[in-house]
Amino acid sequence: MNNSINFPATRMRRMRFHDFSRRLMAENQLSCNDLIYPLFVIEGENTKESVASMPGVGRFSIDLLVQEAKECYALGIPMIALFPVTPASVKSDDAAEAFNPDGLAQRAVRAIKAACPDLGVMTDIALDPFTSHGQDGLINAQGYVMNDETVAVLVKQALSHAQAGADVVAPSDMMDGRIGMIREALESAAFINTQILAYSAKYASSFYGPFRDAVGSAGNLGKGNKFSYQMDPANSDEALREVQLDLQEGADIVMVKPGMPYLDIIRRVKDEFGVPVFAYQVSGEYAMLKAASLNGWLDEKQVVLESLLSFKRAGSDAILTYYAKSVAQWLKEQRA
Ligand code: PBG
Repeated sequence: MNNSINFPATRMRRMRFHDFSRRLMAENQLSCNDLIYPLFVIEGENTKESVASMPGVGRFSIDLLVQEAKECYALGIPMIALFPVTPASVKSDDAAEAFNPDGLAQRAVRAIKAACPDLGVMTDIALDPFTSHGQDGLINAQGYVMNDETVAVLVKQALSHAQAGADVVAPSDMMDGRIGMIREALESAAFINTQILAYSAKYASSFYGPFRDAVGSAGNLGKGNKFSYQMDPANSDEALREVQLDLQEGADIVMVKPGMPYLDIIRRVKDEFGVPVFAYQVSGEYAMLKAASLNGWLDEKQVVLESLLSFKRAGSDAILTYYAKSVAQWLKEQRA
């Protein structure tokens, strides 16, 4: 035997030969406990609309949304994430609809918590569904998104969601200092158990395109962009600084977004901080997987499960994905 090499003493394929040992040595597993399901909510009754760039994803009126929520709960999905599609008539420059106690998001939260109290409900804290220009904050005469003025509105929005019964508020706006201000306001109002999921490393990504169609903010944003607040995809150290600040300010969970193109960021954040890290498989990622699957170019179930397992391997504790309901169903079938 040639001592300079380990073969044949070590045969890596030995452990891959049997199904039982492949299962025993699996380092990561995907379960329904890893899933968060994003849902779009619209005004009206008994209404479901489809989203052209996201086949299989719907926008639901509150009554139908409650049904969806119940199905998610029955499938073992721990939490849903709500995104309101605001009618153009209530959009404004000051985004006041964002903190209307009877706004669409607030009513949806109340309805779901009443019907399904043990299902976690997370809400989006950002102003883009409510501004007439589609930016995540208030703008000045030059079109610049003003930080501190925006944070003041985000605080009101977060409080109104907590009052409506949201379990987790998730600022996705990328303003500086908003986590600390929201935490302080929640504490002062005695919402000591409302969690803050900070979109800490949120990149200025073109993978959000289909989402902006879904919530109808794409038209408002026009040729505008979010480069002055969302992160540059070129950067990775900067993500660690963002995460560190959000944790210092009182975030319970940090998020990396988008997902698959940013798995390296998930791993760095997990290694560096060891805190709960969630990731968002965003609308453009969904659209890619769905389009290729509909064309028969990829095996949908297999590539979706593989993509989500890669999030787990990278260090993500949970994943927001438009595939959450399908995945929960597939995993249930596999167990049966
Ligand atoms: C808005 C928000 C966006 C997403 C979640 N919250 C879009 C954006 O920042 O333009 C994107 C989600 C997705 O693409 O699935 N603040």
